[in-house]
Amino acid sequence: MQLSCFSSIEKRPTTGACVVPFALDKGVIVPLFEDESLVHSALHAIASKDFSAKEKEVLVLYTDPVVEPRIILVGLGEKQKVTVEKLREAYYAVSALLSKKEIVSISCIPPFLEQLTERLVLRGVLEGLFLGTYSFSYYKTTPLKNRLEHIACCVLPGVLHDVAKKVQAQNNALSLARDLVNKNADEITPQGFCEVAKTLVGGGLEVDIYDATWMKNEKMNLILAVSQGAEWEPRFLIVRWEGAPKHTDKTVIVGKGITFDTGGLNLKGTDSLKTMKCDMAGAAATLGVIQAVRDLELPINVTAVIPLCENSIGSRSYKPEDVIVSRAGISVEIANTDAEGRLILADALDYVREKLQPSRIIDIATLTGAAEVALGSDISALFSNTDALAYQLQQASQRAGDNLWRMPLYSGYSSLLDSDVADCKNVGIRAGGAITATLFLQKFVGDIPWAHLDIAGPAFLKEARGYYPKGATGAPVRTMIEFLEELSPKVVEE
Ligand code: BES
Ligand code: ZN
Ligand code: ZN
Repeated sequence: MQLSCFSSIEKRPTTGACVVPFALDKGVIVPLFEDESLVHSALHAIASKDFSAKEKEVLVLYTDPVVEPRIILVGLGEKQKVTVEKLREAYYAVSALLSKKEIVSISCIPPFLEQLTERLVLRGVLEGLFLGTYSFSYYKTTPLKNRLEHIACCVLPGVLHDVAKKVQAQNNALSLARDLVNKNADEITPQGFCEVAKTLVGGGLEVDIYDATWMKNEKMNLILAVSQGAEWEPRFLIVRWEGAPKHTDKTVIVGKGITFDTGGLNLKGTDSLKTMKCDMAGAAATLGVIQAVRDLELPINVTAVIPLCENSIGSRSYKPEDVIVSRAGISVEIANTDAEGRLILADALDYVREKLQPSRIIDIATLTGAAEVALGSDISALFSNTDALAYQLQQASQRAGDNLWRMPLYSGYSSLLDSDVADCKNVGIRAGGAITATLFLQKFVGDIPWAHLDIAGPAFLKEARGYYPKGATGAPVRTMIEFLEELSPKVVEE
């Protein structure tokens, strides 16, 4: 995407369309920019009530092509109530229309709003436009229709530069995460995922890939057990960014990388099997986030730790009632082979706790159907042993418009994981399933500040919703980038 700026409306370049914002002020339609001729061209549409400036409303006008052949009116609803999120939604609607009409270049006049800074406005506008450009076309044999390639904005160059850098890095991270999830599970195998990770090496990112033999030495018996039924060998992937080499502060992100979840011998049913290539969405988001950290050159230390394997069925599959000793030395009775995510995360978390001296750990996982039942497809579940970390993540999620909601890490349910034959078992009862899954993970993190994001609901959509496409969404990439950006100055100050 090419981005450029112009200093005043009259000096806008010739493009396929000029996008102009309107809102409602005490019931009256008002332009959120100053330009007589552009306002004039909208008058008939307004008088005929074809355009009422309500939220997400878009209308194309064909005018005398003085500068451009089309003017696109975008509605933002009540002026005082416009937020960054509403800008994302409205400009997503603009972007979707541009794709349909194959308009490849636009000039854009960002709305003037008292309640938002110029930067925040531009951020909402660009995020919305960018969100509308994604489509998964990897397996299409006919080339895609023309898509938006050039956005010219009426803003100062400095403002455009800062905001564009962030939005572009974020968008590349989202695309990477989404593509990884949307591709076939037999292409994004543990090895296949690592091949993609290798392409990120450079610019300060380092990648280490470990195989099953290394895992045997590390006693990662839970990961090895889950992967036992699969053709593909498991992998343990570590990606490092040292943006603050003089500081000891380090954030470790752990992503669940089950490249396909059949459920194992506790085989899933037809319906739930269908979407299970998404079970590495936590891993994909983690890789996307660390790529963005590199692109933004954030002055912090971040390590991504990604256990990768397939939960398959075969004669060698691990079995219900097996007892397996984890890397941490805790023995686990396998009550259900479909609760595999917490098993691979357990060994990964224990490795991180012992070897990496993290200041905080955040794991991202499509962990439980229970989280999806509780919060639906718009909201990820957030669990944490540290209030400050939970608060920072929640604040970041609000700014990003990529929702997290905190759930209780209620120790009263711990006994549901008691086993007759081992130190614990891997599932409790159906009720409270997202909580017991988190309590299982907690056994492996010790006292380190830790947050667990259960993204089973938002990771993958059966139908498009709002500005999210059908299939992989890339949640919670935007929240995580926002969180790490906010963390950056605090780390350097220490
Ligand atoms: N990968 C699933 C969770 C999931 C469900 C992800 C829906 C995305 C959408 C996980 O491994 C799983 O199968 N969990 C079981 C746990 C149960 C056996 C205790 C579940 O939630 O049903
Ligand atoms: Zn499962
Ligand atoms: Zn799973």
